Amino acid sequence: MRILIAIFISYLIGSIPSGFLLTKYVMRKDVRQYGSGNIGATNVARVMGLKSGILVAIFDILKGYLGVLVGQLIIGNSLSIAILLVAVTAIAGHDWSIFLGFSGGKGVATTFGVILRLYPLAFLIYALIWLLLVLTTRYVSLGSIIGSMSLPLTLYFSSYDSKNIFFAALLSIFVMYTHRENIKRLLKGEENRMDPDKLGKS
Ligand code: G3P
Repeated sequence: MRILIAIFISYLIGSIPSGFLLTKYVMRKDVRQYGSGNIGATNVARVMGLKSGILVAIFDILKGYLGVLVGQLIIGNSLSIAILLVAVTAIAGHDWSIFLGFSGGKGVATTFGVILRLYPLAFLIYALIWLLLVLTTRYVSLGSIIGSMSLPLTLYFSSYDSKNIFFAALLSIFVMYTHRENIKRLLKGEENRMDPDKLGKS
């Protein structure tokens, strides 16, 4: 019963569509109708500017972090299958939000929050790869996708057990799945580059 309660709370936390709420109530715009159509921090930055994007990124990272934390408070502070289920549910909440008719974002910031809480080293490596790729290529999606591949590798080389490595691989597969349209655009050379001069003007 405690596991179900934790999963439910984590899903609700993950479901809070911060990017949608910020754009809707501050700019009276539905972010889903602009830029990439995503509700995440990247698209909010395109539509509202860098500061708003950072605000949404922080909030969405917090959702993942808090989802796991709540689970650990209810179930216990371990890397058990129950905690991993609670963690993935926070990300699922963001990607398939109950408040947006089971649609949502691509889950990268919420994944960052989850791994920050569970695997700080993997968080650091993913964040560094993300930053490096975004700064050098200006493709945020490329940083998100390639960076996520480091998750199972980092856990493997840090001697985590197979359950955690499998879980990290699942998080990476989630990121690839939610970025399937980005992957198609990247392969065709049609992906949007992040142009700092155009932020807030989509
Ligand atoms: O985290 C989302 C990012 O990787 C891509 O966002 O809006 O360019 O699809 P977007």
